[in-house]
Amino acid sequence: MEQKVSTMATSTPFAGPLQVDAWRLTEQALTPAQPLLCETLLSLANGYIGTRGTLEEGLAGQSSCEGTYLNGVYSSEPIQYGESACGFARNNHTMLQVANGKRIYCELDGERVELSGALEHQRSLDMRQGVLQRQWQWQSKSGKRLLISSQRLVSMQHPELLCIAYQVTALNFSGEIAICSELDACYAPFSKKDDPRVGVFSIADTLNLQQQGFAAQQGWMLHQVHGSDFAVCAMMQHAWPAVANNISQLQLKPGVLCEQALWSLQQGESASLTKWVLYRHQSVADTTDLVQRCALQLAELSQHSFASLAAQQASACQQFWQQADVQIEGDAAMQQGIRFNLFSLWQSAGKDGRSNIGAKGLTGPGYDGHYFWDTEIYVIPCLSFTQPAVARQLLGFRYQQLDAARQRAREMAHSTGALYPWRTIGGEECSAYFPAGTAQYHINAAIAYAIRCYYLASDDWHFMREQGIEMLVETARLWLQLGCFNPRRDGAFEIHGVTGPDEYTAIVNNNFYTNAMAQLHLRFAVEMAQKLQAEASEQLERWQLSAQELALWQQAAERMYLPVDARLGVHPQDDSFLDKKRWDFAATPNDKYPLLLHYHPLVIYRHQVLKQADVVLAMVLLDDAFSPVQKARNLAYYEPLTTHDSSLSACIHSIACAELGQLAEAHAFFGDSARMDLDNQHGNTEHGVHIACMAGTWQALVFGFAGLRSRYDGLHFAPRLPAQLPGLNFRLNYRGRVIEFRVQQGQAQYQLLTGEPLVIFHDGEALQLALQQPRQRPLLAGEAV
Ligand code: BGC
Repeated sequence: MEQKVSTMATSTPFAGPLQVDAWRLTEQALTPAQPLLCETLLSLANGYIGTRGTLEEGLAGQSSCEGTYLNGVYSSEPIQYGESACGFARNNHTMLQVANGKRIYCELDGERVELSGALEHQRSLDMRQGVLQRQWQWQSKSGKRLLISSQRLVSMQHPELLCIAYQVTALNFSGEIAICSELDACYAPFSKKDDPRVGVFSIADTLNLQQQGFAAQQGWMLHQVHGSDFAVCAMMQHAWPAVANNISQLQLKPGVLCEQALWSLQQGESASLTKWVLYRHQSVADTTDLVQRCALQLAELSQHSFASLAAQQASACQQFWQQADVQIEGDAAMQQGIRFNLFSLWQSAGKDGRSNIGAKGLTGPGYDGHYFWDTEIYVIPCLSFTQPAVARQLLGFRYQQLDAARQRAREMAHSTGALYPWRTIGGEECSAYFPAGTAQYHINAAIAYAIRCYYLASDDWHFMREQGIEMLVETARLWLQLGCFNPRRDGAFEIHGVTGPDEYTAIVNNNFYTNAMAQLHLRFAVEMAQKLQAEASEQLERWQLSAQELALWQQAAERMYLPVDARLGVHPQDDSFLDKKRWDFAATPNDKYPLLLHYHPLVIYRHQVLKQADVVLAMVLLDDAFSPVQKARNLAYYEPLTTHDSSLSACIHSIACAELGQLAEAHAFFGDSARMDLDNQHGNTEHGVHIACMAGTWQALVFGFAGLRSRYDGLHFAPRLPAQLPGLNFRLNYRGRVIEFRVQQGQAQYQLLTGEPLVIFHDGEALQLALQQPRQRPLLAGEAV
């Protein structure tokens, strides 16, 4: 068999720029080769504001990607097609990039204090504190030295607030120093036009300045957002201790405000300031008093010192870790990886029901900040068990966009139902390349899957009644619009002209994953609709959902076309996949990966080659619908064909391997996922972290090694640990309870920490769990099949 040269499942040495540490991300010296990477990794966010870990002083002359983003807020502009056609996505949304409020720098004897004069530099993000700290020394041309330190936080408590404490100490001289603090809406754009995964992010193109000024110690700017209905206000306020003199407020140019103070320092003395920056957005129609409201809010928030905001932040972090932490024994690098992943998910996830979580979170310009199925298949399953309230908000966001999805279905000639966009921010389809965009109808099934996942974990019937079932019904309707009962295949229900998760194959008939997920979707929709009907609800009438329609869905699910290839004994990825030539991996040099950057799509589409898990993903998500033998055959067939060029893939193969007891392979895939961003394994973390992969890492531990499956009758565990992971410990939120899972010395221990007693299953055996009465069972052996 040909040799696949894959970047994945190779135990990589830890090549990242940050030190390995269980709780901290520390950069010991500036890494000039990788400034962009560290900017991403040291990002701070709270679900609304996200800001990259760029330096307060900026990086003069070096490549840097400045970025502060507001989640759920976007600019919109028409997509330019050389050749357009009916139904093509019309506009692209771009996550809003706002004025940079982080900029602070000093001047000494007319010389600007820049990183080029740094003697040493260290920065560190402690994930228990949620504060980014920097300390560095600078020397002027004449030998005067300064010690500069800063602390920065994006408040979890106050979603509109960013705060910085900045301090400068004169180490070996006495003299005058100026500190300048800016609000800058004119910073340089970042773009990489040859890479389809990166957007062009230019702040100047997206914000039209309406007003700017200083009033009562506050500097502010009001912008209207290009092509959209948003106005955004950015405002800064400072506290300069009394020793500062000559404070001046300057408008350097339209879009740049500066406040400057002069200090006379004796040797050993420090100058310091606190800077509060507030961001808010509003519909344009409603901006009359936006600036006044921001001014009042900022005046109030600036009553909190940096220390008191930092204390609030630490307590929010503590609560978060109490729910979500995962402990791994014996591997500090993996421990750091999983914590960083969980922390990043928490930081970037929208928490207000009006925003979601982008493929790159709030950490960079990748994919224009768009939301994909990544949320529903990767993030929501993790959040349903760790932060159910946030999972609920993310689903609520999709409900907000249901009308837009209905409209999109009409545009695509479907007379009923709703079709969610493959990629979007505001609800409109933004995918300019439809074969790997709009054609991915499985987005509808992903939303249904996430609703099911959240419901099984939370038992939140109120959500189902108010929002969940309506989304299920409207999205289920699409399958009947899309598919047909094929008389040439004995009336099997088939779905044609779609693209599955694997984007190296496009527009096919009967993508196995899509058909299998549509089946799950239809069955669940019928079940939930019937449950609602039993409450004598009038909702079904409102949705004009008849018994006949439900029967048709049931029929389509029963007759869903899910073939097994008689010769190979595997599920064909689609009708034509197995007939194609296999990709020649032996003749593909390592530097030709990812294939999408080196080969025309048609070249790729003609071959048996996968970008990411497809049939294997269906096996993982659909749990016991397939036998272990069938799962093993599919994995053995598709794994050698999978490049894992998508970061969404390795974690899924880890789960598939773990379930089959292939623990060494499972561990290698887990390792690739756990540190994908810290070690920049895909070479593009500088554009933002890989959110789906981060949540997938949690899934690899919990669904993979602990073998958790959430079924109607409860939680089923089948824990098998690889030799490299002797211990694993995590908590699950489950239907109002907290359950702790812990592996120690070859035993799995289950303990109910809060809530009513319940029954869980260990390798099929029912275990009664009562408060604080741990139950132990031996781990399962490897190689289950
Ligand atoms: C993957 C998609 C994913 C998108 C955003 C693409 O490379 O193929 O499955 O949704 O990235 O993460």
